[in-house]
Amino acid sequence: MTERTLVLVKPDGVERGLIGEVISRIERKGLKIVAMDLRMVSQELAAQHYAEHDGKPFFNSLIEFITSGPVVAAVVEGPRAIAAWRQIAGGTDPVEKAAPGSIRGDFGLETQFNLVHGSDSPESAAREIKLWFPNL
Ligand code: TYD
Ligand code: MG
Repeated sequence: MTERTLVLVKPDGVERGLIGEVISRIERKGLKIVAMDLRMVSQELAAQHYAEHDGKPFFNSLIEFITSGPVVAAVVEGPRAIAAWRQIAGGTDPVEKAAPGSIRGDFGLETQFNLVHGSDSPESAAREIKLWFPNL
């Protein structure tokens, strides 16, 4: 069953020159990039994207971080794309949760600066893709 998921290379990933690394891992897995761009994120989009975390202690710094520099946003498609991309990305905490060999496990040190985003369910994917790529 083909799925679509929203992928972000966050400002730290872009700043560190990891766009190519991320694209390469997506392609090597056999997933297909169906939309992609580099853009600045508005406060409004950031707050909508992370609405589920509104009110949590890390929310304000999360919004500040995601709006601090350009991100790469992409829609990635394939069989079980949501879980497949979460596996490539690794767990939220790059040291405690992300396995070595995952993007976060290989390149990350701090939860706040964990380089990439991936939708966590079919419902989240649909909501996020509509938010970031309304014309897709
Ligand atoms: P979350 O949706 O829980 O993680 P994921 O990105 O793996 O789906 O959290 C969103 C982002 O918020 C996470 O990537 C990094 C940041 N964050 C923190 O800064 N501190 C925290 O304690 C948590 C849980 C997340
Ligand atoms: Mg999440």
